[in-house]
Amino acid sequence: MENYKKIIEDIYLEIKNVEDIGKVPNYIPELSKINPDNFGINITTIDRQNFGIGDFNKKFSIQSVSKIFSLALAYKFEGVNLWERVDVEPSGNPFNSLLQLEADKGKPRNPFINAGAIVVCDVLVGHLKNPKEEFLDFCREISNNESLNYSEKIAHSEKISGFRNIALCNFIKSFGNIKNDVDEVLDFYFHICSLEMSCKELSEIALFLADDNFTTHKGNKVLTMSKAKRMNAILLTCGFYDESGEFAFRVGLPGKSGVGGGIVAIHPDKYCIAVWSPKLNIKGNSFKGMLFLEKFTSKTASSIF
Ligand code: DON
Repeated sequence: MENYKKIIEDIYLEIKNVEDIGKVPNYIPELSKINPDNFGINITTIDRQNFGIGDFNKKFSIQSVSKIFSLALAYKFEGVNLWERVDVEPSGNPFNSLLQLEADKGKPRNPFINAGAIVVCDVLVGHLKNPKEEFLDFCREISNNESLNYSEKIAHSEKISGFRNIALCNFIKSFGNIKNDVDEVLDFYFHICSLEMSCKELSEIALFLADDNFTTHKGNKVLTMSKAKRMNAILLTCGFYDESGEFAFRVGLPGKSGVGGGIVAIHPDKYCIAVWSPKLNIKGNSFKGMLFLEKFTSKTASSIF
């Protein structure tokens, strides 16, 4: 940890003053109210040591990063059958694109683009009696953190401005790949996107993907080793939409971004690291977040390659 700590401090100071060419997104009105200068980092090693710097303890909207946890829960329920509903191929298209769905007959390219995550939500709505409560319980159990919660404000803001997601859900339903009521599926989707965490909470909750021996405080295994391996593979190839290749090239870790400006990256058997900086590059990924992680894996020589 000492080594990581010094390197994180150095890169934090270096990047803090770099001109941020990103932009805070405004298509979800409530998200645009965030102070763009927030910048935090937290690392959690698999032996449960933590180190954070900057705004690492402030909660923010994790947005698409929550697609990791909805996928984990759906994969637990469905196993390989899940891949009949959603594919595992990088899309090469923006996260909210409708383009490929027509050609692919309503089967989204992967679970980390909005279309795929909406299908995953439909799967969960089919399995759970109270999807919102039970999903939150699942997140709270894997992180041993009862304080995790949705932001009703963000969920509402997204609902009233979610024209693309509403279109996606209805379009997929027209192909028969949404089984439940579209309003219920979308309400659940908007809520999971509104989940709030700090960098510390985010790097801690992702540990189940880094630690082969992970069990929750209740003694439950979240995913088998084989399923965790597959999740990491999809994170590496699809976690950053049409910038997934770039992230693998520059950072070299499985990871996931969100339009709230958060990124979590996983080094299997070593650590999870979360970075938060709200301004996004053109592809919708945190500008400083990516820069930080690129420098971090270079200086620690700790990419998976
Ligand atoms: O559905 C949306 O558009 C947002 N709730 C989530 C998108 C997102 O985080 C994509 N990330 N880069």
